[in-house]
Amino acid sequence: MANGEASIRVGMRYSFTIHPPPGCQDDRTPGYHSPFTTDHLTATGCDMNTHKILVTGSAGFIGAALSKALLERGDEVVGLDNLNDYYEVSLKQARLARLTAHPGFTDVRLHLEDRDGLQALFRQHRPCRVVNLAAQAGVRYSLTHPHAYIDANLSGFCNVLEACRQFEVEHLVYASSSSVYGANTALPFSVHANVDHPVSLYAATKKANELMAHTYSHLYALPTTGLRFFTVYGPWGRPDMALFKFTRNILAGLPIDLYNHGQHRRDFTYIDDIVEGVIRVLDRVARPNPAWRGDQPDPATSQAPYRLYNIGNHQPVALLRFIEILEQALGRKAVCNLLPMQPGDVPDTHADVHDLMQEVGYSPSTPVETGIARFVDWYRQYYGH
Ligand SMILES: NC(=O)c1ccc[n+]([C@@H]2O[C@H](COP(=O)([O-])OP(=O)(O)OC[C@H]3O[C@@H](n4cnc5c(N)ncnc54)[C@H](O)[C@@H]3O)[C@@H](O)[C@H]2O)c1
Repeated sequence: MANGEASIRVGMRYSFTIHPPPGCQDDRTPGYHSPFTTDHLTATGCDMNTHKILVTGSAGFIGAALSKALLERGDEVVGLDNLNDYYEVSLKQARLARLTAHPGFTDVRLHLEDRDGLQALFRQHRPCRVVNLAAQAGVRYSLTHPHAYIDANLSGFCNVLEACRQFEVEHLVYASSSSVYGANTALPFSVHANVDHPVSLYAATKKANELMAHTYSHLYALPTTGLRFFTVYGPWGRPDMALFKFTRNILAGLPIDLYNHGQHRRDFTYIDDIVEGVIRVLDRVARPNPAWRGDQPDPATSQAPYRLYNIGNHQPVALLRFIEILEQALGRKAVCNLLPMQPGDVPDTHADVHDLMQEVGYSPSTPVETGIARFVDWYRQYYGH
C-alpha cells in the first residue's frame, strides 16, 4: 500500500484501495498530499518507506530505463534478468552498468522459469510492487521459436503471479502488447474492444497474460495492471526493432527491408514517455470497478482489482515519413527494399489512450522528430559512427 491510499480488507474477497480524490495527483507523485493516513508497514512486512520494487527484464530496453527512473526518484530496485542472447548481450550489460553503480539497485541473474529461484528472491527481498517486463519479445521470432514464448511468457509469467500471490505484493504491473489487437481493424485500438483474434503466437501469449492476471486478481485479490505497449523507440533501444535495423543499414550503405511495401502506420512511442506512464500506473494500485457488469463485460476492467491500459503516443506516423525523418537525422538517404506483408504483422497501430490520460494523467510529449534525433545521437556515440 502506498502513501496516499487507504486499504480496507472487506470481508474476504477483495482488498479495496481508496485513491486520492479525482483531480489530485496520485499517491507517489510529488506535490500530492494525501487526505488519508496509512500505516507504512503492510501485513507482509513490506516497508513502503523503502519502496522496494522488483523490475523483471531490468537489462532490457524498457526495464533498464524504468529501473533508472525509479532509482532516481529514490526507490529501491531489485532488477531481475537472465541476459539471454536474443540480441547482443553486450548491449544488455551496458544498460545494466548504468544501474549497478547505484546503491539502491540489486542485480539478480535469474530465469523467470526458475520457480524455486523466484520464490527465494521474493522471500529474500519482499518487493512491495512488481513490474514484469521480462519476456520473449518480437513478433517475427515467434514464427520460428514458438517454445521460447511458451517458456518465458506463459510458464515464467505464471511463476511471477504465484510469487506475487504468495508474498502479497500490493500491485503487479506487467507488459502486454499492441499486438493483441491482431486482426482488429477498428482504429484507434481500444482496451474496451474484444481482442480474441491474435495473428502471432507472441500476441497470443500476451493476451494469455492478461487472462492469467485476471484470474489472480479475481481469486486472490491481487491488484494487477496490464500495459499494452505500442512500438517503443529511443536511446538504448532494441536491435531487432525497425529504427535500430534501419539506422544500422543506412549507415552501412545497405538496403532496408520495408514490409507491406512500406504502407504501415505505427504509433511510435518514445521511451521517456513510456517510463513516465509506467511509473504513474505503478503508483496507482488497480482497484475493482463497481460499475462492471457480467452481462456486458468490459474487457479492460473487472469486479476484481484488474486494469488494462494502452500506452502509446496516440499519433501514428506513416513508416515512409518515419524513414524520411531518420534520413534527415543521419544525413544519408535510405535504399528501400519493398517487400510484401510479413506473416504475423499488422498493417497499422494507433492507441486510444483516453483512459490512461484520464485516470493517471499520462501525456506523451515527445515528437517523433525529437525522439529519432535523440536515438541517432545515442547510436552514433554508442557504436562510434
Ligand atoms: N519495446 C516495444 O516496443 C514493446 C512493445 C510491446 C510490448 N513490449 C513488451 O515489453 C516488455 C519489455 O520489452 P523490451 O523492448 O524492453 O524487450 P527486451 O527484450 O529489451 O527486454 C526483455 C528483457 O527480459 C529478459 N528476459 C527475457 N526472457 C527472460 C526470462 N525468461 N527470464 C528472465 N529474463 C528474461 C531479456 O534478457 C531482456 O533483457 C516485453 O514484455 C515486451 O514483450 C515491448
